This record gives sequence, C-alpha cells and structure tokens, in this order.
Amino acid sequence: MTQSHSVLLIVGGGIAAYKTPELVRQLAKRGIGCRVIVTEAGSHFVAPLALASVTGHEVHTKLLDLTAEARMGHIELSRSADLIVVAPATADLMAKAASGFANDLASTALLATDKPVMMAPAMNVRMWDHPATRRNLATLMADGVTFIGPDEGEMACGEFGPGRMAEPDVIADAIATRLTGSRALAGRHVLITAGPTVEPLDPVRFLSNRSSGKQGYALAAALASLGARVTLVSGPTGLACPPGVERTNVETARQMLAACQAALPADVFVAVAAVADWRPAETHTRKLKLKGAASMPPLKLAENPDILATLSAPGMHRPGLVVGFAAETNDVEAHAQAKLAAKGCDWIVANDVSGDVMGGDSNAILLVTASGTETLPRQAKTVIAGELAARIAAHLTARHPQT
Ligand code: C5P
Repeated sequence: MTQSHSVLLIVGGGIAAYKTPELVRQLAKRGIGCRVIVTEAGSHFVAPLALASVTGHEVHTKLLDLTAEARMGHIELSRSADLIVVAPATADLMAKAASGFANDLASTALLATDKPVMMAPAMNVRMWDHPATRRNLATLMADGVTFIGPDEGEMACGEFGPGRMAEPDVIADAIATRLTGSRALAGRHVLITAGPTVEPLDPVRFLSNRSSGKQGYALAAALASLGARVTLVSGPTGLACPPGVERTNVETARQMLAACQAALPADVFVAVAAVADWRPAETHTRKLKLKGAASMPPLKLAENPDILATLSAPGMHRPGLVVGFAAETNDVEAHAQAKLAAKGCDWIVANDVSGDVMGGDSNAILLVTASGTETLPRQAKTVIAGELAARIAAHLTARHPQT
C-alpha cells in the first residue's frame, strides 16, 4: 500500500511500549508510514530491532549519534513527519515536553518541531493523578497537544484506574482521523456552552454546582481540531481556553443565554454547561449579615431561562443540529428520552453522574438520537469528545453537504 502520510512515533519508557509494533502495523494498514524514536527507558520494554523490522527504517535512540545524525538529522526527523505521536507518553516525557527540555533525542525532537503533536499517556494511576502531571497535561493541552486516552482499567502494577495506554487500533484511528479528516468541519460555526453558572445572592455568596467544564472544553477542542469555528460560552472554570477556540466568559444563566443568542447563527449548538436551574430571586448589593437563627433571611428562588430549550425552538436562527447533555443519577435512558422531547433538541448525550464523573477526567455516555441510542463506554473525556465531534461532523456532512 502506498503511504500517503507519515508520523514520527516517539516511544517512551513504560510497559505499554510493547504494544508499539502493533501500533505501527495498525498505522500501515491505514496507509500511514512511521519513523521511530525510542527513549533509553523505552528500549528496555520494546526491542528497537522489532520496531525497525515493522517500520522498515532505522530506529533512532541517541541524540549524539554521529552515524545516525549523518543519515537523518534529528531536526529533519521531526520536520519530515506530518504528525508526531508520543506513545506511550510517560509522566517523564510529558514533564519534559511541558517544560521545553531538550536533553535527549525524544525531547529534542518534540521541541524542534512545528508539526502537531498527539500523546497517548500511560502511567501508574497515582502518577497520572499527581498535581505535577495535572499541571503538565494542562500546559500541553494549552500548547495544542491532543491526547488519546488514557484508558481506565487494571494496570501492569496491579492497581486500577485511569493510566492504561489506549489500545493500538484506537490510537491508529485517532491518528488517521487527524491526518485525513481534520478539516471535516471547515466552514462550520459551532456554538458550545460549558462549565457551571454562578448565581449571586450577595457580593460573596452564590448558588452553583460542581461542573468542572472539562467535558465541554474537551469537546470545543475536538470540534476546533476538525476545522470548525468554535464559540465557547463558558461559566467560571479553572481551564485554559483551547487553542483555536473563541471564548466568552459569563457567570449567570441569563448572561449565558444572552451570549449564546449574540453568537448566532451557528450550524451546531451543543449545550454542555450545567446551568443552575434557579437563581436567588433577589441579589443583594451588600453582604447579608448574620442576625441570629430567628431572623435568618428566607432564600427565595427564581427559575432561570432554559438556554437549550430556547435555542431549540423553531425559528430563523435555530441551528441545524442542537445537542443537549443530561446529567442523571438514575434511569439514564428514560430521562434522556424525556429530555429530548421536552427540550426540542435533536440529540441528547446522557451520562450517569452518580459516581465521580463531575470534576473527574473520564466519562461514559449514552447518545440518544431520533435514529436510536449508542453507548460509549467509560473513557477519558478527551476521547469521548473526539468520538462526539466525529459523529457531529459525519451528521453534518451527510445532512448538509458543503456547497
Ligand atoms: O434539565 P437539565 O438541566 O437536566 O438539562 C440539561 C441540558 O439542558 C444540558 O444540555 C444543559 O446545558 C441544558 N440547560 C440549559 N439551560 C438551563 C438548564 C439546562 O441550557 N437552564
């Protein structure tokens, strides 16, 4: 098969490195060629000779290797590829890439490139959860690096949780989509809400919820990476705006609705935000004072506007595809079906939030559309985002081909 695209695969030092010859094979099946760098630690988990055999090319291991450098310099190695893929991306490689280190061939290639970078992390669950790795992940995402996985499951070290490298066929699919279908949403405008809303009672107190914004931000990033113009209307979160996304920051539901209406027209509207259903009926300009339990101020609530239902209503500016989310703690499918009808939207993405979904990094969803339901098992929110973005792109292409 002729290979129309090529990736530079950087193999880090983790047990998952043994899966990389299979990744190379899966890429070749999709017409994608590979050059490989293996770190010193990586070479203990997978034989460079095995990777050389499956790629048909010399495998690069050392920064200061005169012979290898004479044949293909490290700068050329990272420039000649269409995409750089780090798999497994260890905590150490992520830290080096986030900080701009260049003290071995892998980190130097990552710093010397102007090509897109994808990482498939694999590490012990505690390393993945460590604040240092969280910081590095946020930095890399802000730098435009996209992530595949990690998956959740039993790990080589015997622990259970997120940290397993995504399977080779899943990584290969994500690479192929990135290389071949990356402009599937070019020319489309996607409007998306994310995060919580914050409804003030007085200058220091408010009503809100535990939404982190992670799923909505990951979806905004995934849609932008498919070429869409993305307007993200966000409640307060600690997240950086994904590259290529235009963000409007809001606090209350009423501000969120106004910002969404101002951003229309849009081809797609995705309501991921956890909008507070109620707000304090009155917002006090001065801090309410404690005057004893007997005189506790009554908390009167007013209903917030329903942004999803408002933008789903028939009208000149109704987006062609309107997608709502439904966070449920029980009877997920029944509630999702009811919500689809009640809100007037086209799809509902339902998830069970009875566990640690809110604020966490993984999610499992049920996609409910007029043509049926589809379950996406528990995976990283970034992976769920990629899957949803691909379905949105496929739906638009089928229903409303670009002229
Ligand atoms: O009714 P419920 O809050 O469960 O509906 C969830 C869906 O509706 C989400 O897509 C959410 O973003 C949207 N929603 C909204 N405005 C509201 C309440 C919910 O857009 N006031």
